Amino acid sequence: MTQRDTPRHRAAHWRAADLPAAAAALRAGGLVAFPTETVYGLGALAGDGAAVARLYAAKGRPLFNPLIAHVADLAAAEAVAVLPPAARALAQAFWPGPLTLVAPRRDGSAVCDLATAGLETVGVRVPDHPLAQALLRAVGAPVVAPSANPSGAVSPTTAAHVLDGLGDRIDGVLDGGPCPVGLESTILGFHGDDPVLLRPGGLPAEAIEAALGRALPRAAGGPVTAPGQLASHYAPGAAVRLSAAAPGPGEAWLGFGQDAVPPGPRALSLSPAGDLAEAAANLFAHLRALDRALAGRGTIAVAVLPDHGLGAAINDRLRRAAAPREAP
Ligand code: TXA
Ligand code: MG
Repeated sequence: MTQRDTPRHRAAHWRAADLPAAAAALRAGGLVAFPTETVYGLGALAGDGAAVARLYAAKGRPLFNPLIAHVADLAAAEAVAVLPPAARALAQAFWPGPLTLVAPRRDGSAVCDLATAGLETVGVRVPDHPLAQALLRAVGAPVVAPSANPSGAVSPTTAAHVLDGLGDRIDGVLDGGPCPVGLESTILGFHGDDPVLLRPGGLPAEAIEAALGRALPRAAGGPVTAPGQLASHYAPGAAVRLSAAAPGPGEAWLGFGQDAVPPGPRALSLSPAGDLAEAAANLFAHLRALDRALAGRGTIAVAVLPDHGLGAAINDRLRRAAAPREAP
């Protein structure tokens, strides 16, 4: 039974063996958080307008911000979107994986208008996580899934993070342990057949450029096509100070590689070895831990990170965490 009409309840905490219960809750129109390789998503049936409306409300997400449809394979993606040739080639190269393709919607697909915020395009991705794959196959229909956090907050990389943020507003969370990538998917849009980077993410732009055999332009200004691009997003309660050499008095510290700050409850390293994949996997959990150590006040000083590969996406999230907190 789903409890979505009850305003205050605790979400179910499902393990892998409970996957049929999670799938049944989704099919019944419930809100079910599940692990992907990037971050936990908050799932709803893409074709169920009422469920999608509850999803926006649970996150406090603006209705102009479209959702990504998650499907089990390329064939299912092509039932949702009309993929240009370059998109199909990239899908074949990188799916399942941390890549979202934004392409024209296919007429009559099982994704409701609310899920795409009325746009002519739809974001679609095939996640690379055994529980996400099993859940999508059990549901047998596209599942929209934004990151499973209140809008504007830091994305969740564990089931506990999901329950902290949304535990009284969703039906349940399927627990698959920590997400291995730790950053949201890379999002590509297309001008005709030419890809453009809308959001850096868990698939490095360099890998996409290598597959394309040409440079991948970054989306420039203009209308916001992916509100994850809004300046302030992924923000902890504490302020964030970037490119710091060392913590100032009273500041918490988020380090990387060889820095001389001794570890402690207010000093964490994204990767003592200077490994960007490890840093990505730790980023959101460490931001949360330091925010909690500061009781959501004060400042987290962050070391300089390289800006290549996954470093570009990590720096993108850190800039948004540090941006002034004006409402979008
Ligand atoms: O890794 C991920 O992508 C995670 C996991 C759960 O799959 N999902 C995720 O969803 O990060 P969300 O909603 O937090 O971020 C999706 C971004 C938003 O910034 C949204 O604006 C953009 O994708 N987006 C979705 N559909 C779009 C479209 N048709 N055109 C442009 N941007 C779109
Ligand atoms: Mg998000």
